[in-house]
Amino acid sequence: MERKIATNPPVLTVDRHKNLSQKELINEYVLKGKPVILTEAALPWVAMKKWTPDFFKTKYSHIEKTVNGRKIKMADQIDLLFNSTAENPAPYPYNFNMENIFPELVQDTLPRLVYGKTDRILNSMMPKALIQRTQVHELFFGGCGGVFPLHFDELFMHTQITQIYGRKEFYMFPPDQERFLYPEENNFKSSKIKNIFTVDLEKFPLFKECTPVVEMLNQGETLFFPNRWWHTTLMPGPSITYGSSHLNQFNWNLFLDDYYRFFKKSTPLKSALLYSYGKVLGKAMDVREALM
Ligand SMILES: [Fe+2]
Repeated sequence: MERKIATNPPVLTVDRHKNLSQKELINEYVLKGKPVILTEAALPWVAMKKWTPDFFKTKYSHIEKTVNGRKIKMADQIDLLFNSTAENPAPYPYNFNMENIFPELVQDTLPRLVYGKTDRILNSMMPKALIQRTQVHELFFGGCGGVFPLHFDELFMHTQITQIYGRKEFYMFPPDQERFLYPEENNFKSSKIKNIFTVDLEKFPLFKECTPVVEMLNQGETLFFPNRWWHTTLMPGPSITYGSSHLNQFNWNLFLDDYYRFFKKSTPLKSALLYSYGKVLGKAMDVREALM
């Protein structure tokens, strides 16, 4: 399935490596603000063999999600994925916070990739309240033609996406392209452009000035992109995708600022205390990580 977008043609491609050390990931990609694809890093995961459409259809048939006002059971969604077309896509986004819905499956994504020891979300001193606005482990089920709204990720998290089943095309926009992407006034991480394939260019004329980075993520591959990269996806067929968020010293302060920005009105005292604690904790983590 080929879909055209009204932008400049993509010029950059994403590097592909079989695997990367944490140091290589930080130096070559996080610090340079570049995405990268790890082609084989997730292959040892139990999830890669176990998480098939059939597995979810039989074991989790009763799980339900509402998309566009319609309640859809997992068993029905899996059938819809296989009947999805570009003209009539299966309901999407059909996604779940794994820690709420499938907590027993999180262990199927071990060992953790690339970030390992310095993913601060895993630190025992990390208060859960600070990360309540994001989904650390997320699962997506989509079909041909399904498109995710254009956005960048909550709390300025770095993102790691593994394609468990099928393929998914990523359309990414580096932070310097944001001036062409029309962030919403009341939610600056979400674009007023919901579907990049059907953009009203009279309303959003700058969109055609942007230059995306486009890559197909194949089954078994993992895409990493640093915080603040705008992105959306298009699926050519049935797809199951696992996403996880990462926090380290390079997005720590942006993350804290974003947490506080959101909660300072509703819970001023609690959020100020957590923010201050986070600042101190960040310094302590900096020292600990420097000694690793
Ligand atoms: Fe995202």
